[in-house]
Amino acid sequence: MQLLASLAHLALLADISAGGTPTWTDKEVIVAFGSFLGGAIPVVLFALNFTVRHYRSRTRKILKENERLKGEAEKQEAKLADLREQFELMRKPEGVRPPEIEEILKTLEKAQIEVAQLRTENAESKEQTATLHGHIDRLSGELMVLHDNLKNYQCELSAARNRIKKALRKDGQIWNEKVLSNAPDFKALDPDGRRTPIISVLNLKGGVGKTTVTANLAAAFDGLGYRVLVLDLDLQGSLTGLFLSEDLQEQISGQERWLEDFLNASFGAEFPSLLDYTQPILSAGRSRLVPTTDDLAYAELNLAIRWLLRDGRRDARFLLRRELHLKRVTNNFDIVLLDCPPLINVCCVNALAASDYLLIPVVASKQATARVPILLKRLKEFGENVNPALKVMGILANRTHRSELTVDEQNRLTLLEAQCKDIWGTTVPQFDTFLRQSTEIRQAEDDNRPLHAEDELYKTFIKLAQEVEMRLPTFCRPERTSLHSVQEGVS
Ligand SMILES: Nc1ncnc2c1ncn2[C@@H]1O[C@H](COP(=O)(O)OP(=O)(O)O)[C@@H](O)[C@H]1O
Ligand SMILES: [Mg+2]
Repeated sequence: MQLLASLAHLALLADISAGGTPTWTDKEVIVAFGSFLGGAIPVVLFALNFTVRHYRSRTRKILKENERLKGEAEKQEAKLADLREQFELMRKPEGVRPPEIEEILKTLEKAQIEVAQLRTENAESKEQTATLHGHIDRLSGELMVLHDNLKNYQCELSAARNRIKKALRKDGQIWNEKVLSNAPDFKALDPDGRRTPIISVLNLKGGVGKTTVTANLAAAFDGLGYRVLVLDLDLQGSLTGLFLSEDLQEQISGQERWLEDFLNASFGAEFPSLLDYTQPILSAGRSRLVPTTDDLAYAELNLAIRWLLRDGRRDARFLLRRELHLKRVTNNFDIVLLDCPPLINVCCVNALAASDYLLIPVVASKQATARVPILLKRLKEFGENVNPALKVMGILANRTHRSELTVDEQNRLTLLEAQCKDIWGTTVPQFDTFLRQSTEIRQAEDDNRPLHAEDELYKTFIKLAQEVEMRLPTFCRPERTSLHSVQEGVS
């Protein structure tokens, strides 16, 4: 209450000092003021007392904190002094520094070197790791490819095994299989197309005169003005020996221009020209020979195996057909004669697949004639599939005893004609011309040549060539200039 009264006095005093109209007298004011002071002093003293106590407590706290900080600062200073001392010691030149500092510095230096080394090694090993990752990626890629290849090989192998099993079941008749769709078509002889007849001289018996007939018929046709192409398809190479001297064979031996080279190249990816594999023969130089060495045996085996395994896209039976029916052959030759081997192999099948006609030389002995029906039987089965256009031009009697047939020979040939008709379905004609046994053949062989105009038997071959010509379509006859002079010489 005392404090409220004092405040009222103070408010009055404030009005006066603000220029208000004094309502109280001075005495009243002094009394009011004195009473105000009397009321306010204890309050102020209390507040002051409280404030002092508060500040005292804070001061104590600050002093305590200062003490702590001072201690802390002293510690830090001691540490700093220590470090400074160490630093100073380190800065001293080597030798002056105390040994423990030297030791520390050395350890430090070593540690720095090791760290640098480790850094380098780390970078290197990072690089190596990246390279190794690359290798591993590449290797796993290769592994996958190999894995796929292996799978394919396994498939191919089992397919090949099946094919071989099938072939074995066929009792060796591997050449009569379905013709592949990419095999070349047979182009029949045609006045407006192919006019160069192809004749295979074939008998499955050896020694009946296939090579003798091919070589001398080629010489006769050449003499009649034909451009003759002759192929030696027998790996014995007897025909080659009749046309090319041993020296010449030696000369061309390294050129890879033999029949086997042509067959190998044709079965591969290439389309080689047969003309590149020919050698000029006979004096006029218009006829040519595709020669053979005994290496043909390897090519035969190779091609037969590849055909069995179906290795390669081409049909191995049509390598000659593809080539012999082409214009590059038909434009350069008037007749093609093929000297076949005495067995059905790659070359023989190729000859049959390409030929228009078959000429079968026989020796009129019982054993030799007995083989002809067997040949026709095989040809019939084979022809239906591989070459339905193949015709038998005729059977040619060779090595007869005299210029005329003996009764025995005649009987044997008549019997053969009947046997052939039974198997072939139609008459298989015989040539009117026949070849007697002659020492001239051996003589010519010894001289590495076919017969020539001076030989007696050459005229018989001219007759045979003319008979062959008669059995060919007329449009197959070439226009010849030298024919008359040769014919005059013959008659
Ligand atoms: N008319 C013939 N006169 C004499 N010898 C012949 C006659 N025909 C073939 N020869 C000989 O018979 C052998 C075999 O002839 P060749 O033509 O090689 O038969 P192939 O080719 O059928 O195996 C050869 O030595 C050949 O000289
Ligand atoms: Mg022969």
